[in-house]
Amino acid sequence: MFTVKRSIDGTALQRQNRRLQRLKTQGVTRSTVFVHRECKLALDDLRPHFVDAAKAEALSELVLELGKKTKPTNVAQVNQLSPFRYPGGKTWLVPEIRSWLRASKTIPDVFVEPFAGGAMAGLTAAAEELAYTVVLSELDSDVAAVWETIFDGTDTAVEWLCNQIASFEVSLENVQKVLAGNPKSDAARAFRTIVKNRMQRGGIMAAGAGLVKEGEAGKGLRSRWYPKTLGERIRGLRDLRDRITFQRGDAFDTIQQFITNPNAFFFIDPPYTAGGKKAGNRLYTHNEVDHERLFSLMATARGPVMLTYDDAPEVREMAMRHQFRIQTVPMKNTHHAIIRELLILKP
Ligand SMILES: C[S@@+](CC[C@H](N)C(=O)[O-])C[C@H]1O[C@@H](n2cnc3c(N)ncnc32)[C@H](O)[C@@H]1O
Repeated sequence: MFTVKRSIDGTALQRQNRRLQRLKTQGVTRSTVFVHRECKLALDDLRPHFVDAAKAEALSELVLELGKKTKPTNVAQVNQLSPFRYPGGKTWLVPEIRSWLRASKTIPDVFVEPFAGGAMAGLTAAAEELAYTVVLSELDSDVAAVWETIFDGTDTAVEWLCNQIASFEVSLENVQKVLAGNPKSDAARAFRTIVKNRMQRGGIMAAGAGLVKEGEAGKGLRSRWYPKTLGERIRGLRDLRDRITFQRGDAFDTIQQFITNPNAFFFIDPPYTAGGKKAGNRLYTHNEVDHERLFSLMATARGPVMLTYDDAPEVREMAMRHQFRIQTVPMKNTHHAIIRELLILKP
Protein backbone atom coordinates (compact mmCIF):
# COMPACT_ATOMS: atom_id res chain seq x y z
CA MET A 1 0.00 0.00 0.00
CA PHE A 2 2.72 2.37 1.09
CA THR A 3 4.77 1.53 -2.04
CA VAL A 4 1.82 2.25 -4.34
CA LYS A 5 1.18 5.64 -2.76
CA ARG A 6 4.88 6.55 -3.10
CA SER A 7 4.84 5.60 -6.74
CA ILE A 8 1.67 7.71 -7.37
CA ASP A 9 3.25 10.66 -5.54
CA GLY A 10 6.49 10.09 -7.38
CA THR A 11 4.73 10.15 -10.76
CA ALA A 12 2.83 13.28 -9.84
CA LEU A 13 6.05 14.89 -8.74
CA GLN A 14 7.81 13.94 -11.95
CA ARG A 15 4.92 15.31 -13.97
CA GLN A 16 5.02 18.50 -11.94
CA ASN A 17 8.78 18.84 -12.49
CA ARG A 18 8.39 18.29 -16.22
CA ARG A 19 5.73 21.00 -16.28
CA LEU A 20 7.97 23.40 -14.36
CA GLN A 21 10.85 22.70 -16.76
CA ARG A 22 8.61 23.31 -19.74
CA LEU A 23 7.33 26.58 -18.25
CA LYS A 24 10.89 27.65 -17.48
CA THR A 25 11.80 27.36 -21.16
CA GLN A 26 8.86 29.71 -21.81
CA GLY A 27 10.25 32.22 -19.31
CA VAL A 28 7.79 31.37 -16.51
CA THR A 29 9.10 30.52 -13.02
CA ARG A 30 7.43 29.93 -9.68
CA SER A 31 7.23 32.73 -7.07
CA THR A 32 5.87 32.69 -3.55
CA VAL A 33 3.85 35.72 -2.51
CA PHE A 34 2.18 36.64 0.76
CA VAL A 35 -1.35 37.88 0.23
CA HIS A 36 -3.79 39.42 2.65
CA ARG A 37 -7.17 37.64 2.49
CA GLU A 38 -8.78 40.94 1.43
CA CYS A 39 -6.55 41.00 -1.66
CA LYS A 40 -6.90 37.32 -2.53
CA LEU A 41 -9.69 37.90 -5.04
CA ALA A 42 -7.69 40.58 -6.84
CA LEU A 43 -4.66 38.28 -7.02
CA ASP A 44 -6.78 35.45 -8.41
CA ASP A 45 -8.13 37.75 -11.10
CA LEU A 46 -4.62 38.81 -12.06
CA ARG A 47 -3.09 35.32 -11.87
CA PRO A 48 -3.65 34.30 -15.53
CA HIS A 49 -2.02 37.54 -16.71
CA PHE A 50 1.26 36.94 -14.87
CA VAL A 51 2.24 34.06 -17.17
CA ASP A 52 1.59 36.05 -20.32
CA ALA A 53 4.72 37.89 -21.53
CA ALA A 54 2.56 40.13 -23.71
CA LYS A 55 0.95 41.53 -20.55
CA ALA A 56 4.26 42.59 -18.98
CA GLU A 57 4.11 46.18 -20.17
CA ALA A 58 0.48 46.64 -19.13
CA LEU A 59 1.24 45.16 -15.68
CA SER A 60 4.25 47.46 -15.17
CA GLU A 61 2.06 50.43 -16.08
CA LEU A 62 -0.47 49.22 -13.52
CA VAL A 63 2.19 49.03 -10.84
CA LEU A 64 3.32 52.57 -11.65
CA GLU A 65 -0.30 53.72 -11.48
CA LEU A 66 -0.70 52.13 -8.04
CA GLY A 67 2.47 53.62 -6.67
CA LYS A 68 2.31 56.99 -8.25
CA LYS A 69 1.60 60.35 -6.76
CA THR A 70 -1.84 61.62 -7.55
CA LYS A 71 -1.39 65.07 -6.06
CA PRO A 72 1.13 67.56 -7.40
CA THR A 73 3.84 68.91 -5.08
CA ASN A 74 2.78 72.00 -3.18
CA VAL A 75 5.49 74.34 -4.46
CA ALA A 76 4.91 76.74 -1.57
CA GLN A 77 6.45 74.07 0.68
CA VAL A 78 9.64 73.77 -1.37
CA ASN A 79 12.55 75.91 -0.25
CA GLN A 80 13.04 78.32 -3.15
CA LEU A 81 16.73 78.91 -3.69
CA SER A 82 16.84 80.46 -7.15
CA PRO A 83 16.63 84.21 -7.79
CA PHE A 84 14.70 83.32 -10.98
CA ARG A 85 11.03 82.56 -11.36
CA TYR A 86 11.87 80.50 -14.36
CA PRO A 87 9.37 79.41 -17.00
CA GLY A 88 9.41 75.62 -17.00
CA GLY A 89 11.19 75.77 -13.63
CA LYS A 90 11.33 72.48 -11.78
CA THR A 91 10.47 73.49 -8.22
CA TRP A 92 7.56 71.02 -8.30
CA LEU A 93 9.97 68.18 -9.12
CA VAL A 94 12.33 68.80 -6.20
CA PRO A 95 10.87 65.98 -4.00
CA GLU A 96 11.39 63.42 -6.82
CA ILE A 97 14.92 64.64 -7.53
CA ARG A 98 15.74 64.49 -3.82
CA SER A 99 14.46 60.89 -3.47
CA TRP A 100 16.27 59.87 -6.66
CA LEU A 101 19.59 61.13 -5.30
CA ARG A 102 19.00 59.77 -1.80
CA ALA A 103 18.13 56.33 -3.16
CA SER A 104 21.65 56.04 -4.55
CA LYS A 105 24.00 53.89 -2.46
CA THR A 106 26.80 56.42 -2.86
CA ILE A 107 26.72 60.21 -2.85
CA PRO A 108 27.16 61.34 -6.48
CA ASP A 109 30.61 62.82 -7.28
CA VAL A 110 28.91 65.33 -9.47
CA PHE A 111 25.35 66.36 -10.23
CA VAL A 112 25.18 67.75 -13.77
CA GLU A 113 22.35 70.08 -14.84
CA PRO A 114 23.36 71.07 -18.37
CA PHE A 115 20.16 72.99 -19.31
CA ALA A 116 20.31 75.03 -16.13
CA GLY A 117 17.82 77.91 -16.53
CA GLY A 118 16.77 78.72 -12.95
CA ALA A 119 18.67 75.56 -11.85
CA MET A 120 16.27 74.46 -9.11
CA ALA A 121 17.57 70.87 -9.19
CA GLY A 122 21.26 71.72 -9.06
CA LEU A 123 20.87 74.39 -6.40
CA THR A 124 18.90 71.97 -4.19
CA ALA A 125 21.52 69.24 -4.68
CA ALA A 126 24.25 71.67 -3.61
CA ALA A 127 22.36 73.22 -0.68
CA GLU A 128 21.26 69.86 0.73
CA GLU A 129 24.64 68.23 0.06
CA LEU A 130 23.02 65.56 -2.09
CA ALA A 131 26.15 65.51 -4.29
CA TYR A 132 29.79 66.45 -3.69
CA THR A 133 29.79 68.96 -6.53
CA VAL A 134 27.28 70.46 -8.93
CA VAL A 135 27.94 71.55 -12.51
CA LEU A 136 25.49 73.84 -14.28
CA SER A 137 25.59 75.07 -17.85
CA GLU A 138 23.44 77.49 -19.82
CA LEU A 139 23.60 78.98 -23.31
CA ASP A 140 21.58 82.13 -22.69
CA SER A 141 24.16 84.86 -21.97
CA ASP A 142 21.72 86.91 -19.89
CA VAL A 143 20.96 83.95 -17.62
CA ALA A 144 24.65 83.00 -17.61
CA ALA A 145 25.57 86.50 -16.38
CA VAL A 146 23.53 85.90 -13.20
CA TRP A 147 25.22 82.58 -12.44
CA GLU A 148 28.67 83.90 -13.33
CA THR A 149 28.27 86.89 -11.06
CA ILE A 150 27.07 84.76 -8.14
CA PHE A 151 29.53 81.86 -8.48
CA ASP A 152 32.56 83.44 -10.18
CA GLY A 153 32.22 87.19 -9.58
CA THR A 154 34.07 89.17 -6.95
CA ASP A 155 32.50 89.87 -3.54
CA THR A 156 32.22 93.50 -4.67
CA ALA A 157 30.26 92.50 -7.78
CA VAL A 158 27.84 90.37 -5.73
CA GLU A 159 27.30 93.15 -3.20
CA TRP A 160 26.81 95.67 -6.03
CA LEU A 161 24.13 93.39 -7.52
CA CYS A 162 22.34 92.99 -4.18
CA ASN A 163 22.47 96.74 -3.56
CA GLN A 164 21.10 97.51 -7.03
CA ILE A 165 18.21 95.15 -6.32
CA ALA A 166 17.60 96.63 -2.86
CA SER A 167 17.59 100.23 -4.07
CA PHE A 168 15.67 99.76 -7.33
CA GLU A 169 12.59 101.99 -7.47
CA VAL A 170 10.03 100.01 -9.41
CA SER A 171 8.09 102.04 -11.97
CA LEU A 172 7.25 101.41 -15.60
CA GLU A 173 9.74 104.06 -16.65
CA ASN A 174 12.60 102.63 -14.57
CA VAL A 175 11.89 99.05 -15.66
CA GLN A 176 11.86 100.09 -19.34
CA LYS A 177 15.11 102.03 -18.82
CA VAL A 178 16.88 99.00 -17.33
CA LEU A 179 15.58 96.67 -20.04
CA ALA A 180 16.68 99.04 -22.83
CA GLY A 181 20.13 99.45 -21.29
CA ASN A 182 23.32 98.00 -22.66
CA PRO A 183 25.15 96.75 -19.56
CA LYS A 184 28.91 96.36 -19.85
CA SER A 185 29.78 94.27 -16.79
CA ASP A 186 28.48 90.80 -15.89
CA ALA A 187 26.97 92.15 -12.68
CA ALA A 188 25.07 94.90 -14.55
CA ARG A 189 23.86 92.33 -17.07
CA ALA A 190 22.81 90.08 -14.19
CA PHE A 191 20.78 92.95 -12.75
CA ARG A 192 19.04 93.56 -16.08
CA THR A 193 18.28 89.81 -16.37
CA ILE A 194 16.72 89.69 -12.92
CA VAL A 195 14.56 92.75 -13.69
CA LYS A 196 13.55 91.17 -17.01
CA ASN A 197 12.76 87.81 -15.41
CA ARG A 198 10.63 89.37 -12.68
CA MET A 199 8.86 91.97 -14.79
CA GLN A 200 8.13 90.10 -18.03
CA ARG A 201 4.94 88.10 -18.04
CA GLY A 202 5.45 84.50 -16.87
CA GLY A 203 9.14 85.18 -16.27
CA ILE A 204 9.59 84.61 -20.01
CA MET A 205 13.19 85.15 -21.07
CA ALA A 206 12.72 85.23 -24.86
CA ALA A 207 12.51 88.55 -26.73
CA GLY A 208 9.03 89.92 -27.37
CA ALA A 209 7.44 88.96 -24.04
CA GLY A 210 5.27 91.75 -22.63
CA LEU A 211 5.66 93.24 -19.17
CA VAL A 212 3.25 92.28 -16.41
CA LYS A 213 0.35 94.74 -16.26
CA GLU A 214 1.42 97.91 -14.54
CA GLY A 215 -1.82 98.08 -12.55
CA GLU A 216 -2.87 101.05 -10.49
CA ALA A 217 0.11 103.27 -9.60
CA GLY A 218 2.56 100.64 -10.80
CA LYS A 219 1.26 98.12 -8.22
CA GLY A 220 1.40 95.19 -10.70
CA LEU A 221 5.09 95.64 -11.38
CA ARG A 222 5.90 96.30 -7.73
CA SER A 223 4.12 93.10 -6.68
CA ARG A 224 6.76 91.17 -8.59
CA TRP A 225 9.75 92.73 -6.88
CA TYR A 226 10.96 91.16 -3.62
CA PRO A 227 14.31 92.90 -3.05
CA LYS A 228 14.97 91.44 0.41
CA THR A 229 14.24 87.85 -0.66
CA LEU A 230 16.25 88.21 -3.86
CA GLY A 231 19.25 89.58 -1.94
CA GLU A 232 19.03 86.75 0.61
CA ARG A 233 18.87 84.11 -2.10
CA ILE A 234 21.83 85.57 -3.99
CA ARG A 235 23.97 85.79 -0.84
CA GLY A 236 22.87 82.28 0.19
CA LEU A 237 23.95 80.88 -3.18
CA ARG A 238 27.21 82.78 -3.03
CA ASP A 239 27.98 80.82 0.15
CA LEU A 240 27.61 77.59 -1.87
CA ARG A 241 30.09 78.65 -4.55
CA ASP A 242 32.74 76.08 -3.56
CA ARG A 243 30.29 73.34 -4.47
CA ILE A 244 28.91 74.79 -7.71
CA THR A 245 30.67 75.24 -11.06
CA PHE A 246 28.93 77.20 -13.76
CA GLN A 247 29.83 76.85 -17.45
CA ARG A 248 28.51 79.29 -20.04
CA GLY A 249 27.97 77.20 -23.17
CA ASP A 250 26.35 74.28 -24.85
CA ALA A 251 24.77 71.53 -22.77
CA PHE A 252 26.19 68.84 -25.08
CA ASP A 253 29.77 69.94 -24.30
CA THR A 254 29.08 69.81 -20.57
CA ILE A 255 27.47 66.37 -20.82
CA GLN A 256 30.46 65.02 -22.78
CA GLN A 257 32.81 65.96 -19.94
CA PHE A 258 31.05 63.58 -17.53
CA ILE A 259 29.57 60.93 -19.80
CA THR A 260 32.08 58.24 -18.79
CA ASN A 261 31.93 58.97 -15.05
CA PRO A 262 29.80 56.24 -13.41
CA ASN A 263 29.23 58.48 -10.41
CA ALA A 264 27.99 61.51 -12.36
CA PHE A 265 24.22 62.04 -12.12
CA PHE A 266 22.57 63.90 -14.98
CA PHE A 267 19.42 65.95 -14.62
CA ILE A 268 18.31 66.91 -18.12
CA ASP A 269 15.54 69.47 -18.59
CA PRO A 270 15.79 70.75 -22.16
CA PRO A 271 13.40 73.25 -23.76
CA TYR A 272 10.25 71.43 -24.86
CA THR A 273 10.25 71.61 -28.60
CA ALA A 274 10.03 67.89 -29.27
CA GLY A 275 6.71 66.32 -30.18
CA GLY A 276 3.67 68.42 -30.87
CA LYS A 277 4.16 70.83 -27.99
CA LYS A 278 6.17 73.90 -28.80
CA ALA A 279 6.06 75.88 -25.55
CA GLY A 280 9.86 76.13 -25.53
CA ASN A 281 9.74 78.29 -28.64
CA ARG A 282 8.28 81.32 -26.97
CA LEU A 283 9.77 80.86 -23.51
CA TYR A 284 13.50 80.76 -24.19
CA THR A 285 15.91 82.48 -26.57
CA HIS A 286 17.66 79.16 -27.15
CA ASN A 287 15.04 76.54 -27.84
CA GLU A 288 16.37 74.37 -30.66
CA VAL A 289 17.69 71.11 -29.26
CA ASP A 290 18.42 67.95 -31.24
CA HIS A 291 16.43 65.63 -28.99
CA GLU A 292 17.33 62.49 -30.91
CA ARG A 293 21.02 63.31 -30.41
CA LEU A 294 20.35 64.06 -26.75
CA PHE A 295 18.65 60.69 -26.14
CA SER A 296 21.39 58.82 -28.03
CA LEU A 297 24.07 60.56 -25.98
CA MET A 298 22.32 60.06 -22.63
CA ALA A 299 21.83 56.37 -23.42
CA THR A 300 25.64 56.05 -23.34
CA ALA A 301 26.06 57.75 -19.94
CA ARG A 302 27.83 55.54 -17.40
CA GLY A 303 26.00 57.25 -14.53
CA PRO A 304 22.28 57.60 -13.73
CA VAL A 305 20.15 59.92 -15.87
CA MET A 306 16.83 61.68 -15.28
CA LEU A 307 15.23 63.58 -18.17
CA THR A 308 12.00 65.55 -17.96
CA TYR A 309 9.70 66.16 -20.90
CA ASP A 310 6.13 66.88 -21.89
CA ASP A 311 4.12 63.70 -22.19
CA ALA A 312 4.14 63.48 -26.00
CA PRO A 313 4.02 60.24 -28.04
CA GLU A 314 7.24 61.19 -29.89
CA VAL A 315 9.07 61.57 -26.59
CA ARG A 316 7.79 58.22 -25.27
CA GLU A 317 8.87 56.59 -28.53
CA MET A 318 12.43 57.99 -28.25
CA ALA A 319 12.65 56.99 -24.58
CA MET A 320 11.51 53.44 -25.28
CA ARG A 321 13.76 53.04 -28.30
CA HIS A 322 16.76 54.03 -26.16
CA GLN A 323 15.58 51.72 -23.36
CA PHE A 324 14.88 54.33 -20.73
CA ARG A 325 12.25 53.75 -18.07
CA ILE A 326 9.21 56.03 -18.20
CA GLN A 327 7.29 57.39 -15.23
CA THR A 328 4.75 60.19 -15.02
CA VAL A 329 4.53 62.86 -12.30
CA PRO A 330 1.61 65.19 -11.63
CA MET A 331 2.15 68.93 -11.74
CA LYS A 332 0.00 72.06 -11.89
CA ASN A 333 0.40 74.02 -15.11
CA THR A 334 0.16 77.82 -15.36
CA HIS A 335 -3.63 77.53 -15.59
CA HIS A 336 -3.64 75.48 -12.35
CA ALA A 337 -4.84 72.36 -14.17
CA ILE A 338 -3.22 69.12 -13.04
CA ILE A 339 -1.27 67.53 -15.87
CA ARG A 340 1.35 64.80 -15.98
CA GLU A 341 4.92 65.24 -17.09
CA LEU A 342 7.28 62.50 -18.14
CA LEU A 343 10.23 61.43 -16.06
CA ILE A 344 12.59 59.41 -18.19
CA LEU A 345 15.11 57.40 -16.24
CA LYS A 346 18.22 55.34 -16.73
CA PRO A 347 19.49 53.65 -13.58
C1 LIG B 1 13.33 74.02 -19.47
S1 LIG B 1 14.56 75.24 -19.20
C2 LIG B 1 15.36 74.69 -17.74
C3 LIG B 1 14.60 75.06 -16.49
C4 LIG B 1 15.30 74.62 -15.22
N1 LIG B 1 15.30 73.19 -15.06
C5 LIG B 1 14.72 75.29 -13.99
O1 LIG B 1 14.39 74.60 -12.99
O2 LIG B 1 14.60 76.51 -13.99
C6 LIG B 1 15.71 74.92 -20.45
C7 LIG B 1 16.93 75.85 -20.46
O3 LIG B 1 17.89 75.33 -21.39
C8 LIG B 1 18.56 76.42 -22.00
N2 LIG B 1 19.17 75.91 -23.24
C9 LIG B 1 18.62 75.70 -24.44
N3 LIG B 1 19.49 75.12 -25.29
C10 LIG B 1 20.65 74.96 -24.60
C11 LIG B 1 21.91 74.39 -24.91
N4 LIG B 1 22.16 73.86 -26.11
N5 LIG B 1 22.86 74.38 -23.97
C12 LIG B 1 22.61 74.88 -22.73
N6 LIG B 1 21.43 75.42 -22.36
C13 LIG B 1 20.46 75.47 -23.29
C14 LIG B 1 17.47 77.46 -22.20
O4 LIG B 1 18.04 78.75 -22.32
C15 LIG B 1 16.67 77.28 -20.91
O5 LIG B 1 17.16 78.14 -19.92
